[in-house]
Amino acid sequence: MTSANDKAPVITVDGPSGVGKGTLCQWLALRLGWRLLDSGALYRLTALAARHRDLPLDEESRVAAVAAELDVKFVTTDGNGSLRVILDGVDVGAALRGESVGNAASRVAALPAVRAALLQRQRDFRRPPGLIADGRDMGTVVFPDAELKLFLTASAGERARRRHKQLSEQGLDANLKCLVGEIAERDARDTQRATAPLKPAADAEVLDTTRLSIADVCAWALALALQRLNCPENL
Ligand code: C5P
Repeated sequence: MTSANDKAPVITVDGPSGVGKGTLCQWLALRLGWRLLDSGALYRLTALAARHRDLPLDEESRVAAVAAELDVKFVTTDGNGSLRVILDGVDVGAALRGESVGNAASRVAALPAVRAALLQRQRDFRRPPGLIADGRDMGTVVFPDAELKLFLTASAGERARRRHKQLSEQGLDANLKCLVGEIAERDARDTQRATAPLKPAADAEVLDTTRLSIADVCAWALALALQRLNCPENL
């Protein structure tokens, strides 16, 4: 049976690590007054929860069981869209964003049983007035019927530079050279995996953001959203 939630509009934003999807999605969600799904956080949380249980990350069925039973709460803390992430009752916000958890996430994300375990949890974020879905397979697998699909790219060097700036601003340790290597490794794993590899949906709008500012990217996305969805802005 189709519910009102299944009919809520969705804008998907996919692309590789460090391309700026998170910043764009937070901005769009706030601007349109829609909900936000950070699907990468679910893979990061799965990796973190597996680590807390001392599970080897390649034990597919056990890691998938952890993914299926994730005890996680997303708590909005203020009016600008900031979220606290509570895993097993503990605030894991800072630990979650680090590069080592990102790499572990990309390893568990390559396991088909883990992806299957997280699928419905992601679809449950779809509710009126609408959803901005941030990830790698939002337009291809999770929300193939999305009203608007965006796919961002940028050179690996530029993405490493952006990630470096972001981590430094959060007070997290980061080495630019290491980041370039890690981003290349993650790109390879995300694009070459057999299940839900990173790629634009056939009907996605693709933008190379290498030489663009975040303001340019936001303006491009908002113009497409307003055109395609005829939705009022949350001003
Ligand atoms: O976006 P973020 O860096 O938080 O994602 C962490 C990892 O989770 C990615 O490198 C990717 O391997 C995986 N991921 C995924 N599918 C998604 C979102 C994230 O495979 N929809």
